[in-house]
Parts: sequence; C-alpha cells; structure tokens
Amino acid sequence: MTARYAVFGHPVAHSLSPRIHADFAAQLGIAMEYVAIDAAPEDFAAAIAAFAATGGLGANVTLPHKERALALCAAASERARRAGAANTLTRRDGDWHGDNTDGIGLVHDLTERHRIDLRARRVLMIGAGGAARGAAPALLDAGIEELWVVNRTPERADALADAMGEPGRVHTRYWDDLRNLGSFDMVVNATSAGRGGSLELPFTLATQRTLAVDLSYGEAAVPFLAWAEAAGCAQRIDGIGMLVEQAAESFAIWHGRRPDTDPVYAVLSARAGVLHTAD
Ligand code: ATR
Repeated sequence: MTARYAVFGHPVAHSLSPRIHADFAAQLGIAMEYVAIDAAPEDFAAAIAAFAATGGLGANVTLPHKERALALCAAASERARRAGAANTLTRRDGDWHGDNTDGIGLVHDLTERHRIDLRARRVLMIGAGGAARGAAPALLDAGIEELWVVNRTPERADALADAMGEPGRVHTRYWDDLRNLGSFDMVVNATSAGRGGSLELPFTLATQRTLAVDLSYGEAAVPFLAWAEAAGCAQRIDGIGMLVEQAAESFAIWHGRRPDTDPVYAVLSARAGVLHTAD
C-alpha cells in the first residue's frame, strides 16, 4: 500500500505543500501519496481520525488547525509545546506525535539560504498569533539578542512572551508605542493583515540596514514588503523559503532524509513574482 500523507487546512486548495512534497519525493525516489484535505474546525479531529484509520502516516497542519492539532497529540516535541501549535503530525504506535517545523524552517531560510547572521540582532515581531508563536522560539534559539513583540491585541503579545520564558530577552509593547521604539535590526511581519486587512506601521522602525521578513508569501506579503521598501530596507524576504524549509523538515521526520530545497525554492519564488532580497 502506498504511504499516505496529507496537509489539513481550511481553506486548503491553495496549499503548495502537495506539490512541494511530491517534488521532494521524486528527487529522493520515495513512493508516497500526499493530498490536501479541507476540514472545517469542528470537523478537524474526525478528519484526522479518519485519515489515521485509512493508513495515514503523517500530516502537515495549516491554518486554522495548528493549535487543535497539538491538543490531539499523545506526545509532542519541546518546540511544538513552546509554540503551542503543531504543523507536523506523525503516526507512532497508534498515536499522533506532534512537532513544529515552522520556526526551524524560518531560521534555515534566513541563515542558510540568505546567509544572515541572526546573532546579536534586535528583532521586532509584529503579531502574536500562530505564525508568531512558531517563529519566536526558533529565533531565540538562533541567538537573537532581543525580541520585542507588539500585537494589536496586547494580551496575546504578553501570552507569547510568557510562553517563551525568557523575560530578560523578550519584551512586549503596545501598538501605540511602535513610534517610540526606535529602529530594529530585523522586523518580522507575523500578522495575517496581508490577507485582507491593512497594516499601518511607522517608518521609524526601520533603516536601510533593517532586514524585513514577512512570514507570508505571494499577495499576502506584498503590503508589508512594500512598506519595507518605502522605509528603505535594503533586504526584504518573504515566507516562500520558510514554507519550503518547514516542508523539508517535516519530510525528513517522516522519511529520514532531508531533500535539497533549492530547486523547489527556485521554481516557487520565481512564480510568486515577489521581490525577495535586494542584495
Ligand atoms: P496566524 O496563524 O497567521 O498567525 P492568527 O493566529 O489568527 O493567524 O493570528 C493573526 C495575527 O495577525 C494576530 O497577531 C492578529 O492580531 P490580533 O491578535 O490582535 O487579532 C494579527 N492581525 C491580523 N490582522 C491585523 C491587522 N489588520 N493589523 C494588525 N494585526 C493584525
């Protein structure tokens, strides 16, 4: 029987994961099936159970299910627990094991593809939802000096900071304080504002040397990256590389081998048509 994998989301039709995993499998000569399964939030647990009952071995989980996914795992990695969310589920001894490869995917993309040294960086994270929760622990582990978290709803920024457990390095501020924080070495857009909302940010947050990173890609990354360009940031990176790298980490968990991500990244980033870096 063919090994079965899937990505669960709602909506999920737009997901690039089936294509990315198919490319990885072809590259490494691994036979498997990887499909997209749309499940409404109230149906997610039943959909995952049905997938397991029909031989599903592993699942990626995307919006809006990542927190729910962690809750139904019998065991989870430390990074998934710290993020409070799972994007990778693996069937082990009749149970789901949860992991979160989003943060390490981001760090891989920044440090290995874009050759960025994250150490000693003063970082501003805008947003404190699921995407921010995945990224923050990995950035701290990668050696950034300070993480400032600002979110429209301040309680969520405080909850994120508390979950990191590093009060010396992680600070929160109100949205209205953004004007008074000075500039940062790196500004990360972890909000979902690019998917329909509007994001108003002061130019004082950035200089020409500020690295601007959007965890979204395609159309959703356009407003923030346009702000970064207008603010003068020379280096601007969208989330396509993170997407490919988190997929490679999930793939390695399931198949024991990490694929070469460069060919897939080259195709997807060319297609996204978004400026990635100016260097
Ligand atoms: P995701 O998994 O993409 O992070 P999420 O958990 O729903 O999705 O979180 C969305 C994030 O984007 C939140 O930080 C949200 O702010 P609130 O916590 O105040 O809701 C933020 N966000 C969404 N639209 C925004 C907007 N127009 N301006 C500022 N922040 C926005």
